Amino acid sequence: MSAIKEKDKKYNLHSWSAQNKVDPIVVTKAEGLYFWDENGKKYADMSSQLVNSNLGHGNKAIIDAIVEQAQKIPFMGPAFAMDCRADAAEAVVEATGFKGGKVFFTNAGAEANENAIKIARQYTGKLKIFSQYRCYHGSSAGAGMLTGEPRHFFNEPGGPGFVKYDGPYAYRAPKACKFENEDDVADFYLELLENQILYEGPEQIAAIWLESVVGSNGVLIAPVKWYQGVRALCDKYDILMVADEVMAGWYRTGKCFAFMNFGYEPDMITFAKGCTCGYVPLGGVVMQEKIAKFFDETSMGCGLTYSAHPMGCAAAAATIAEYKNEDIENKMKVTSKVLADILDGYVESHASVGEVRHIGLFSAIELVKDKETREPLVPFGKDPEGIMPKILGMLKADGFWTYSHENMIVVCPPLTITEEELREQMAIMDKVLDSVDQMI
Ligand SMILES: Cc1ncc(COP(=O)(O)O)c(C=O)c1O
Repeated sequence: MSAIKEKDKKYNLHSWSAQNKVDPIVVTKAEGLYFWDENGKKYADMSSQLVNSNLGHGNKAIIDAIVEQAQKIPFMGPAFAMDCRADAAEAVVEATGFKGGKVFFTNAGAEANENAIKIARQYTGKLKIFSQYRCYHGSSAGAGMLTGEPRHFFNEPGGPGFVKYDGPYAYRAPKACKFENEDDVADFYLELLENQILYEGPEQIAAIWLESVVGSNGVLIAPVKWYQGVRALCDKYDILMVADEVMAGWYRTGKCFAFMNFGYEPDMITFAKGCTCGYVPLGGVVMQEKIAKFFDETSMGCGLTYSAHPMGCAAAAATIAEYKNEDIENKMKVTSKVLADILDGYVESHASVGEVRHIGLFSAIELVKDKETREPLVPFGKDPEGIMPKILGMLKADGFWTYSHENMIVVCPPLTITEEELREQMAIMDKVLDSVDQMI
């Protein structure tokens, strides 16, 4: 074991893992789509790290902005106004299109949701917060209770008022459902949600949360009618609609924010990740004018030493400018079509591929033992034989870096990936899926 790895394993705890099973790659260089280990092996970063390095590694404009800010004023408390702070706030709010909106900056995604919970409760004077079972919103005390998938068990019993609902997932809907089309899917899940709102008491519900495209839990893209239906239910029952754009935001889906694909506007969004591409941590909550105005006279019950940290703000302003300078929205029109065609082809060509889901460069491959029964390749919440790590290992051996969740493999390359690079990497995936076909 190398000295670096040995020291890392001795002192550093890795997330969501039994430490003895962790075998971290020692990274020594990263550039564009690629990173290299200490032995010089090259990997394509096909998950953009944790779906946050949207502009790839080593973007010079972002790094220069960070260096410049570090040399100028690396830190001033959040009470002060600064050029980088005002620029970042303007760029973020304008990106959402929320007229008269404002932003409260945090350090990352969980904290963004954490503060948005408080803002929703303070603004509405109501307690209950709805969020989906199949979702991830972070793992801190409050955000971890919003999270519906098994990682929220670590936060239980948590505080009162967190209610979970089922969001659309047609591929794994209850067996009795006979959906003819997307509208049927939307109608079914909207009816369930409205029933739940009535039984929980609309006068007690502050907000309904959703990931504008469910990310970690398998890139679940709901029908347009469903998003618009949730908006209508929120209006009908005077409930705030909060879209978590932490993973789906910042062009991942092809538009600046994912909600822009579905013809609705939430009351608040939470964001992080692609806002700085992770070069310096930053997140936040953007609220519509009505909520921002509420805090004109009412004191905001949120505060962080590092809210609107100058280094994060400088990185964010530069990153947002880079998305435009690099014409990411237009470039992605080509690459996302290439990725979509390749993935759709897998459903035909691979016995182990049950469903693929994609929007922009945000995609997941759902693996099954049997296409007819849709039995997942590994049972929910368990993988005793380590099948998914084995598949990731095969990809990694060929230099394709990504991660998996349950029975799904994530494919979310940097938005700067070229068509050639994409085809080259997906040929590796194709070959590995041939081996998975043999395993089932
Ligand atoms: C949709 C979503 N929300 C919130 C979070 C939490 O963000 P962070 O890990 O920056 O706290 C994540 C992290 O993956 C996420 O995917």
